[in-house]
Amino acid sequence: MTLSKVMTPETQSLIRFQTAGDSTRAVHAGARRDKPFHALIDPIVQTATYAFDSLEDIQDFLERHEAGEKFDRYEYGRYGNPTVEAVAERIAALEGADDALLFSSGMAAVTTTLLALLGAGAHLVITDDIYRRTREFTNDFLKRYGVTCSVVPMGDYDALEAAIGPETRIILSETPTNPYLRVLDVERVAEIAHRRGVLTMLDTTFATPINLRPIEYGIDLVVHSATKYLGGHHDLLAGAVVGRTDLLKKIEENMASMGAVLAPQNAYLLGRGLKSLALRVRHQNASGQQVAEYLEGHPAVERVWYPGLASHPDHAVARTQMKGFGGVISFNVRGDLESTARFIDRLQIPYTTPSLGGTESLVVQPALMSYHHLTAEERAAIGIEDNLVRFALGIEDPADIIADLEQALAGVA
Ligand SMILES: Cc1ncc(COP(=O)(O)O)c(C=O)c1O
Repeated sequence: MTLSKVMTPETQSLIRFQTAGDSTRAVHAGARRDKPFHALIDPIVQTATYAFDSLEDIQDFLERHEAGEKFDRYEYGRYGNPTVEAVAERIAALEGADDALLFSSGMAAVTTTLLALLGAGAHLVITDDIYRRTREFTNDFLKRYGVTCSVVPMGDYDALEAAIGPETRIILSETPTNPYLRVLDVERVAEIAHRRGVLTMLDTTFATPINLRPIEYGIDLVVHSATKYLGGHHDLLAGAVVGRTDLLKKIEENMASMGAVLAPQNAYLLGRGLKSLALRVRHQNASGQQVAEYLEGHPAVERVWYPGLASHPDHAVARTQMKGFGGVISFNVRGDLESTARFIDRLQIPYTTPSLGGTESLVVQPALMSYHHLTAEERAAIGIEDNLVRFALGIEDPADIIADLEQALAGVA
């Protein structure tokens, strides 16, 4: 499926980088050395289809393909592309997984995977603090196809186990979550799922493989909105599913029918962004901690949500399972809906927009953006407070971010 499996032994392989550090994997895993024209960088193979020399050549291809043989030959863009597969292999190497598949967006990765693994009559369990569109898909869309879903509170492992029934196929969760950065006890969920014979699927977009490798704890499938940290530059949409080859084969089959494949140009951008993933995320971990501590000590700030702070409800599990706490901080300012909006408008460095994980800092007021369609009462019922701010750090210097927050917070209290 991925490039190393169709390359000759002298080419770069996943195996060769299995024990390498994060940045070495981010740069080299999946890259073949014997590139066309001796180019250093993987080419963008910008093609919709691949030509055959003769009909006999096509027949030979189809026979080898049907026999399950791996070889360096492609048929059609929706079934594979070398630029895309080289990047997929690097992501698999970063996660310490067998394989990865890349999609046109994070939502394409989530939906194609769930549709591949669930059928009418199946049941899945999700945790409540999950990306809004994912929740809409599992609760509303899948219901139309006879798939039922139970929602359990994040962090309530007894409720999670109690929700598993004879038809349960998948436990789907996210860590850290948005906007409260709740952190899942990944080892505990994997243990429950294995004991009960259920698959686990975990969206670790906010963690990245630099801060958490769920496969090492026994999670079956890891999902990413690669639009965020993996791409890292706010210039593309992409999604990834990482895990065991047998599961990915089923998902790949479904992807071939549903068609939400990643375009070669975007794969190139993703691969380029990926090379600096470890550098960027380590910087964001350090500035996240610094900015969170600054905010926690500020009189105009009511509460800070950051897993690296002892005050966060999941600090203990985050400290044991994560290598860093990431670049997203949520906090409540001492203000109401309007004064919180004015505070955000006074900030000079971050752009005011959803998304996260790129080089530029971004800031949002969830009550006025992702949850604007709800009434104040409905927002309160799901814990979205009017004075909540989500700050997604870019790679700017933390001292400049703190100075910017200082001048904007001066007008709050
Ligand atoms: C945690 C999480 N998962 C999935 C998605 C969907 O990803 P995309 O926007 O790339 O479709 C998002 C998008 O914000 C997200 O935050």
